[in-house]
Amino acid sequence: MRHLMSPLDLSVDELDELLNLANDIEKHPEKYAHACDGKKLATCFYEPSTRTRLSFEAAMLNLGGSVLGFASADSSSAAKGESVSDTIRIISCYADICAMRHPKEGAPLVASQKSQIPVINAGDGGHQHPTQTLTDLLTIRSLKGRLDNMTIGLCGDLKFGRTVHSLINALIRYPGIRFVLISPEELKIPSYIREDVLKAKQIPFTEVERLEDAIPELDVLYMNRVQKERFFNEEDYVRLKDFYILTREKLSLAREDMLVLHPLPRVNEISVEVDDDPRAVYFKQAQYGVYVRMALILTLLGISVE
Ligand code: CP
Repeated sequence: MRHLMSPLDLSVDELDELLNLANDIEKHPEKYAHACDGKKLATCFYEPSTRTRLSFEAAMLNLGGSVLGFASADSSSAAKGESVSDTIRIISCYADICAMRHPKEGAPLVASQKSQIPVINAGDGGHQHPTQTLTDLLTIRSLKGRLDNMTIGLCGDLKFGRTVHSLINALIRYPGIRFVLISPEELKIPSYIREDVLKAKQIPFTEVERLEDAIPELDVLYMNRVQKERFFNEEDYVRLKDFYILTREKLSLAREDMLVLHPLPRVNEISVEVDDDPRAVYFKQAQYGVYVRMALILTLLGISVE
């Protein structure tokens, strides 16, 4: 039995296979319509979500399976003090696979250690969000044709943005990747990523504050929102929340073939006037999230479709 806690749980070859499967699902959805007949997915979300929870549910329904679960800690027995270890033992009696989001770093890992079914980390605190990373990789590979030899700009809240942390960990396994880390001083990438990942593995990167300075050299611009729910005081959040706003004017400095990604939800960091630009692919990215989660469910349940 396999779980997915981090994108690094999959080797580069396994990742390629998963992305190939997702592309096949995109092209031939009818082939997979009954692949999970009789199977159940539990979505255990202790934190709010639109895309991750609903795309997991759409993925399982597209595969012919069914779904059950809860969308907030308040609507589960966590509100009465039940631990994730006990909860997953119960969920193991009801479902074949579980996607879990939790505000505490490591909670899905704890659950996986007591689980009788595969557990997928659907986001744990400010730590990791591996299925968003799979979505991001599928989007970049499908639209750019490669995952290597690129300059990737990561812009916004690099301190608390778990999607950024997961994406860096995944992309450094490909040759010729260079990062431009664009953030205000207070939201710089944590030192455990800068020192233990980027510097330790000799990955080229620069840190800048102005988006306008970085944008002309980028192949991919990955925007993220300032993560309000991780701030300790409202004042800091209010001061930083509109630090970056990608406007049509700023986008005019970018290459014609640069892609703009965003894990969403968006707050103010991308102006809606940018949405119609062909380089803005964040809504397409959300659609890729369904294909890749379908591929992941099949892979973790060991189901292959001829
Ligand atoms: N990208 C993402 O995780 O969105 P949700 O919080 O809506 O699931």
